[in-house]
Amino acid sequence: MTSCKEFHRRSIEDRDGFWTEQAALVDWHKPFSKVLDYSRPPFAKWFVGGETNLCHNAVDRHLAARGDQKAIVYISTEVDREISYTYRELHAEVNRLAAIMLGMGVKRGDRVIIYMPMIPEAAFAMLACARIGAIHSVVFGGFAAASLAARIDDAKPSLMITSDAGMRAGKIVPYKHLVDESIRLAKHPPSKVLLVDRKLDPGMTRVEGRDADYATLRAQHMNAQVPVTWMESSEPSYILYTSGTTGHPKGVQRDVGGYTVALAASMKHIYCGAPGETMFTTSDIGWVVGHSYIIYGPLLAGMTSILYEGTPIRPDAGIWWKIVADHKVSVMFSAPTAIRVLKKQDPAFLKKYDLSALRHLFLAGEPLDEPTHSWITEALGRPVIDHYWQTETGWPILSSMPGIEATPVKFGSPSFPAYGYDLRLLRESDASDAADGEKGVVAIVPPLPPGCMTTVWGDDARFVKTYFSTFSSKQVYSTFDWGIRDKDGYYFILGRTDDVINVAGHRLGTREIEEAVSAHPNVAEVAVVGVADNLKGQLPIAFVVLKDVSRTATPELRAQAEKDVMATVDKQLGAIGRPGRVHFVTALPKTRSGKMLRRSIQALAEGRDPGDLTTIEDPTALEQIKSVLAAK
Ligand code: PRX
Repeated sequence: MTSCKEFHRRSIEDRDGFWTEQAALVDWHKPFSKVLDYSRPPFAKWFVGGETNLCHNAVDRHLAARGDQKAIVYISTEVDREISYTYRELHAEVNRLAAIMLGMGVKRGDRVIIYMPMIPEAAFAMLACARIGAIHSVVFGGFAAASLAARIDDAKPSLMITSDAGMRAGKIVPYKHLVDESIRLAKHPPSKVLLVDRKLDPGMTRVEGRDADYATLRAQHMNAQVPVTWMESSEPSYILYTSGTTGHPKGVQRDVGGYTVALAASMKHIYCGAPGETMFTTSDIGWVVGHSYIIYGPLLAGMTSILYEGTPIRPDAGIWWKIVADHKVSVMFSAPTAIRVLKKQDPAFLKKYDLSALRHLFLAGEPLDEPTHSWITEALGRPVIDHYWQTETGWPILSSMPGIEATPVKFGSPSFPAYGYDLRLLRESDASDAADGEKGVVAIVPPLPPGCMTTVWGDDARFVKTYFSTFSSKQVYSTFDWGIRDKDGYYFILGRTDDVINVAGHRLGTREIEEAVSAHPNVAEVAVVGVADNLKGQLPIAFVVLKDVSRTATPELRAQAEKDVMATVDKQLGAIGRPGRVHFVTALPKTRSGKMLRRSIQALAEGRDPGDLTTIEDPTALEQIKSVLAAK
């Protein structure tokens, strides 16, 4: 058996040989002529000249050997339904939707925004885009109309696919209504909307001439056969918007060939998912984890994937374990916040079901604290693998690789660099290598491996400036995370170097939340910081300077003003960005050059020392922060 170290070493030292072997895990319509074109650093083109297709590899390729095996099992505890689709049925549905899209004028390279709840049609839509070479951009259903409009204007889609509504914890969450509003706000709205009507929202309205009904069109395309569009490996497959330090999310662009190979390889070496087995990833299709490990990864591997619409605690806190038992799930992937939620429930739920098929539980998206890691490991009696990655990379950067070697897990650590990543911990001061036990910036020496983002959609310069310009002496990719390595080579992630926060595994930019707060007409200035939270990891807290301070003269007025600010965030950004608290002050702490002292505010909000304050312009601003925090 190869060791992880040796596997990793070879992936870096014999890059071409290593990735040629991995590329054999998938079908190529036309073989590639070159493994890597790195003639224009830091832009990497993988499997140059090769032609392939994600949908072909995820669906068509399996028809001969496993056409009657379940590909997707949709389980909804919200609408109380369970529906399975075999690979053959999935193929038919994807062909129907691909034909509908072609009929609506969608062409290769066009963008299609998918704004949908966790229903099978969302998966069909992604795969149908991949089939015809359209570029999908799935937007998480928790984002509000203004956020959706910003993404529309960046992607300029020719079509949006949506649904009347989703359901969360028994409550109807309107989608179509938000799509209508976002199209009204957008400068580059799509001319067509395809609507999957679940008949959940009786108040939903349609726009004549623009909105098409999915069920009606599906009935007209029952026998559709849409040939796969063979894509050059580097053509874009999808865009996924993610938060950074500005108020404007970046469109992470991914290729076709590199992503297909990277996911197929990760299913084998990291997740150990064999064809015919079942994978259950509890994320949402709106996040990168959903793209890679609800849809593409398990299907590329010929597995059955569970698409779950619901929460972890309804009808009771045993629901996920019931799914694992009923469907003999062998690979499960979730997030630390969900496990912390379950930890607060009766442990009997975990003992009630037969979990013998489960081999590993993978967790990612936010730091996994040691107590939660050890609790769930003990409760499951299985290795629980903390692994670390980003929307930008599309698959794990740091992980143990049980498909290569079963290395011991250390609680609180996502283990080692995954193959393909030439990972470094660099000193912030001069980009030199940090020693074992010394904190450094987690960086990757380019080229980034296959599957990682290839650029920022429509903005190559932003890709280089954002990710490769942290250090002036070296062009390396910055993850914007701090890390540390122990003497055994295990890494630990210590939090972000920038203003990105992580709320219940959801990545948000504090600037984005600040912009949403600023949409309130009475807000003059705002600072948002993320503070540690036992359950959600972090929670945004806002400090607001109002134009008209009389609006907060009494406790009742303050409470109302706080509610109003929260409602503004809900409307602008979505409830996922809603601050846990809104505090009112008359000045915010800044340096004399006008830079907001966010780190100091955050330190105070977490009860820590605010650090060096010699550059502060107005010391009373910090005193105000202290006093509003003390007053709660
Ligand atoms: O700060 C790191 C944190 O989440 C960020 C990436 O979030 P996102 O783009 O939403 O991708 C999630 C893909 C799983 C990282 O920069 N993060 C992710 N995984 C971990 C983590 N922090 C600590 N430990 C992890 N395992």
